[in-house]
Amino acid sequence: MSLVVGLLYFFLRRLAYLLSISVTKPAERNFPHVHSFVLPDPSHFSANLLYSPLPTNSFFQNFAVNNGNESEYLHPYFIKPSLSSLSLSYPSIFCNSSITYQVFSPDLTISTQDKNPDQHPKISSFSDLSVTLDFPSTNLQFFLVRGSPYLTCLVKGKSEVLISSIVTIESMSFNSILTKYTIKLNNKQKWLIYASSPIKFSKNDKFSITSDAFSGIIRIAISPDSGSAFESILDQHSTAYPVFGEATFTNLFTLEYRWEKQGFGDLLMLAHPLQLELLSSAENDKVVILKDFKYNSMDGDLVGVVGDSWILKSKPVPITWNSIQGIDKKHFPRIISSLDNDTKNLNLTATMSIKSSYFFGKAIARAARLELVAEEVSHPVVIPHILKFLKTSIQPWLDSTFSGNGFLYESKWRGLVTKLGSNDPLADFGFGMYNDHHFHLGYFLYAIAVIAKQDPDWGATYKPQAYSLMSDFMSQNPNFKYPVLRNFDLWKLHSWAGGIPEFPDGRNQESTSEAVNAYYAASLLGLAYGDSEVFELGSSLTSFEIMSAQKWWHVEENSELYAKDFVKENRVVGILWNSKRESRLWWASAELRECRLAIQVMPVTPITEALFSDVGYVKELVEWTSPALKRKDVDEGWKGFYYAMEAIYDWESALGKILDLTGFDDGNSLTNLLWWVYSRKH
Ligand SMILES: *[C@@H]1O[C@H](CO)[C@@H](O)[C@H](O)[C@H]1NC(C)=O
Ligand SMILES: *[C@@H]1O[C@H](CO)[C@@H](O)[C@H](O)[C@H]1NC(C)=O
Ligand SMILES: *[C@@H]1O[C@H](CO)[C@@H](O)[C@H](O)[C@H]1NC(C)=O
Ligand SMILES: *[C@@H]1O[C@H](CO)[C@@H](O)[C@H](O)[C@H]1NC(C)=O
Repeated sequence: MSLVVGLLYFFLRRLAYLLSISVTKPAERNFPHVHSFVLPDPSHFSANLLYSPLPTNSFFQNFAVNNGNESEYLHPYFIKPSLSSLSLSYPSIFCNSSITYQVFSPDLTISTQDKNPDQHPKISSFSDLSVTLDFPSTNLQFFLVRGSPYLTCLVKGKSEVLISSIVTIESMSFNSILTKYTIKLNNKQKWLIYASSPIKFSKNDKFSITSDAFSGIIRIAISPDSGSAFESILDQHSTAYPVFGEATFTNLFTLEYRWEKQGFGDLLMLAHPLQLELLSSAENDKVVILKDFKYNSMDGDLVGVVGDSWILKSKPVPITWNSIQGIDKKHFPRIISSLDNDTKNLNLTATMSIKSSYFFGKAIARAARLELVAEEVSHPVVIPHILKFLKTSIQPWLDSTFSGNGFLYESKWRGLVTKLGSNDPLADFGFGMYNDHHFHLGYFLYAIAVIAKQDPDWGATYKPQAYSLMSDFMSQNPNFKYPVLRNFDLWKLHSWAGGIPEFPDGRNQESTSEAVNAYYAASLLGLAYGDSEVFELGSSLTSFEIMSAQKWWHVEENSELYAKDFVKENRVVGILWNSKRESRLWWASAELRECRLAIQVMPVTPITEALFSDVGYVKELVEWTSPALKRKDVDEGWKGFYYAMEAIYDWESALGKILDLTGFDDGNSLTNLLWWVYSRKH
């Protein structure tokens, strides 16, 4: 695409977006509005961005809250804004057996001579793959594009650029036309500075250099090897710079990246290991992979890719209501007897007294499983009772008549919060701070999809509410009410929780299985309503989330992604942060391996088979967890998920243990586990 066509394309998309805003009704009408007392004002965004929904679990969330000065890791660099400067760090990696993280150290700090630190930096624009930070106090504007090996900075108004380091600058050299400088630091780093026109830098002291008055583009990159091979690649691509990037699902299981490029020449970006894998599953004729050009990262090597647009194709996953393999009829009676009992014991009073959006969601999704199992084992007699239970319990949440809690729409950041969450940042696990939305809402959507499938009239009545719950975290197109994909990260290719609070390590996510469940449930909702767009987006996201879980959370014994010490002790990551991995959970220590397994497995549904498709890994996970099961205080509920994993390769052994269980997780049941065991291949 030529530059002119490219610009036209982006201009038209922008126009379409603005038009879509002006014709959309301005308010969420399905849930009452509320003023949240816990959410901060989004003051770091420039005024013209406040008219559209703002991202709440994004890769630049730290820039948007508090002082906006906490770092974010935008592969391959940490970026840390302050009032009048921006620091850049090419991190080293710390690792022991329980934690691994990237260490921020301000290798280079960029500012200008005339500082007026009264005005803090503003987010002047953002896109799926980038954020632009404006420093009104210094005449600098930074195009922060994820995966760019260069930091790109626009210097306005003839400013003297100041670059400093916390370590000694050992040497500075430059080319004859003064458009490239090489500086070596005494921490062994070699940094390259490129300018769009001649610039004259002089050394001030051991720690800083300053330029003459300059306007134009400056790009800064670390040269990741000591020789000259990488440097010449960086030289070659230094003149083409991305200013923003969009990611679009163009087809089922297909995601396309497109950057807007300025300058001239071919765009050089970096791909993480999963992107690299997905790039090679698609036809990418115009893309050249430089497989030896690598940067370090905790997510695995970041590899050079030349091209203005990429196509990423994920592995298709089957989205089905019932088990993928089916169940032999001879096992039906055993499942039915448990189903009769679990149906009879559905307790409406108990369920309707659950105020927590998370635990209520789990309770109704558990009952929805019973309905689907009843269909699969041809036992329709229990279905009316289950459906009545589901409708009676969920309607007060959808009608906003439930006195204990409920969903409300707030318009600062634009989205749903719970009634409890609008007054208390910790209520509903931080739902009011935009934490965990996909987890909670996924369970609701699952139950709603099952009711709507069985009772289309009911489905039609509650469609507006169902779509609001879905759109809160799975809006594909920009609209006035909700941001695009609240949780899913289109560059990293999995979801984040964490919401909007400041976190030194960026966003995090614990339960990948509950994230998978959210998109799986959304695609079932699409099936129930005959909405192919929702079905396809949900399916695509399910598949990307699964591939990411397998890549970064499931740690195989022979994994080379993480350092040896960490791999030795962990078969699964507990909390995965943007720039840290932890063994522990939010609610359990690293030793409680049964909890760590359970939180990556729940809920057990047909899609669990796709998430745990690697039987070799499942065996490793079960063996690694087994010593923890010898403790006396192990909860019966967690054991259920452990046996579910064992059933993948030894269903008879798992069955015996499941029949001996004396309790189940509140989202699980004996019926569901029997359904799972008998639907394994055997
Ligand atoms: C951000 O700025 C505030 C106010 O100047 C300061 O107290 C805080 O330590 C800074 N935070 C970081 C991460 O630098
Ligand atoms: C790993 O490092 C962290 C952070 O430095 C420390 O708190 C923890 O105790 C260490 N763990 C082990 C097992 O050494
Ligand atoms: C029936 O379910 C209840 C609780 O849900 C359980 O305590 C009981 O053991 C079950 N009985 C049978 C026969 O499965
Ligand atoms: C249902 O739950 C309520 C509230 O927890 C409890 O009081 C009642 O005994 C339960 N009913 C049955 C039949 O177990």
